[in-house]
Amino acid sequence: MKIGIVLGTRPEIIKMASVIDEIKNRGQELLLIHTGQHYDKEMSDNFFFDLELPAPNYNIHVGSGSHGEQTGKMMEGIEEVLLKEKPDILLVQGDTNAVLAGALVASKLHIPVGHVEAGLRSFDETMPEEINRLVADACSKLYFVPTEESAINLMMEGISRKRIFITGNTVVDACFRNLKISKSRSIDKYDKGLVDLDIDNMENIVTLTMHRAETVDIKERVENIIGAIEELSEMNIIFPIHPRTKKMLENFGLLDKLNSMGHVHIIKPVGYLDFLLLISKSTFILTDSGGLQEEAITLDVPALTLRYNTERPETVTAGGNILVGSDKEVILENARKILDSEEFANKMKSAVNPYGVGDAAKIMLDVILEADENNELIISAPDEVMSTFTRKVITLDKDISVNEFEEDNNLVKMVLDGENIKFPYDDLNLNGLTVIYDCY
Ligand code: UD1
Ligand code: UDP
Repeated sequence: MKIGIVLGTRPEIIKMASVIDEIKNRGQELLLIHTGQHYDKEMSDNFFFDLELPAPNYNIHVGSGSHGEQTGKMMEGIEEVLLKEKPDILLVQGDTNAVLAGALVASKLHIPVGHVEAGLRSFDETMPEEINRLVADACSKLYFVPTEESAINLMMEGISRKRIFITGNTVVDACFRNLKISKSRSIDKYDKGLVDLDIDNMENIVTLTMHRAETVDIKERVENIIGAIEELSEMNIIFPIHPRTKKMLENFGLLDKLNSMGHVHIIKPVGYLDFLLLISKSTFILTDSGGLQEEAITLDVPALTLRYNTERPETVTAGGNILVGSDKEVILENARKILDSEEFANKMKSAVNPYGVGDAAKIMLDVILEADENNELIISAPDEVMSTFTRKVITLDKDISVNEFEEDNNLVKMVLDGENIKFPYDDLNLNGLTVIYDCY
């Protein structure tokens, strides 16, 4: 089958790498479309090189711009390619504008959309990414969700359980595969910025990244974060700077201040292999990145997240991540706890990774190939009159699995176990549980 992928930014390249590998391993045809949203060598090409990915079949070269402009250009470009290439499915990943554009265009052409990393919700409607997640999920056919929590988010929005697949996150695939490679490389292979810092012999490292509009576009927030960094003078703060952040710090006249601090090392964004090494050598990370919250818990590194909410709440409940916002005192208080208390730091480091074992791409390809074989990916106009249904609630008092319960023309929408919501796996025993279901 022909499997299309739309990607356009650094995290999408990283998180789709294992899916691309798996498509090739299974002998399937790959159609790779790059929107060109990220275009600097160190935001795009370097990742294709590090992750040994094939060059995209198409690059739409949208470049930078306002949301409407960028998304509009992407939609036009993606539509043209899809009409010509007619893939059997289009995969999109995460929550960038590529996801929004790809999902909208493909669903209107009746090409089924598979959303990788579906179901994440920050419930913050000011985040452009939250809008992208919601719209992409409204247009998708198959949902590859990282955790049970994200699966339940989708069920709360009425998505059928049969289209949701809990796979873990492909970031774990990427981390495990590439950390091994990066640890076996010699220092002369590292990025120049890290060689200059003699990273192999450096101690007390804190990796800092920030790029989110809600953080870096607001001067007061950036000033507060810089205020906290200034006080962490015993640490080596390594800051691979995102182009958006560089632009904003320059606009605010703050880049020189940060540059003048002896313990702060601002470098260009680094390649993935180097970056994994950097995280794994860090005492903790300071970040507003989505992917880094996941990588930190995967690599047992405490994370302080410079945000007021997260669509990755599993990392917080697991104990590996603390939301510190842009509040100088809260950042410092938590940083000091990690530095001063071994017990506190170890507790954060031993948080259980909620994102799986690194086989997300394999599970996805199993699902996609099976769905294709069963002709479940064909989207066509209905030729049967739609049957009516009533929505009902029942508490069961006998052993019956979800699959058996559905044999009687019932469709399970939600399962409650006392105060908790459970994901209705096929073989879940419903005895003692309350089920909300559609009865046809
Ligand atoms: C985008 C995604 C964000 C994701 C991030 C990953 C959306 C809405 N945002 O944010 O979800 O977390 O990528 O890094 O899709 N620029 C360059 N060179 C580049 C790319 C960007 O200089 O290669 C500069 C431009 O000045 C541009 C600014 O960075 O205006 C912002 O880029 P943009 O692609 O709009 O959003 P990101 O902040 O990168
Ligand atoms: N990353 C990298 N080099 C860097 C900074 C980040 O390789 O200098 C990787 C990081 O390991 C993660 C991804 O880029 O996998 C995160 O991208 P970003 O923070 O830009 O986006 P988000 O995840 O917030 O969407």
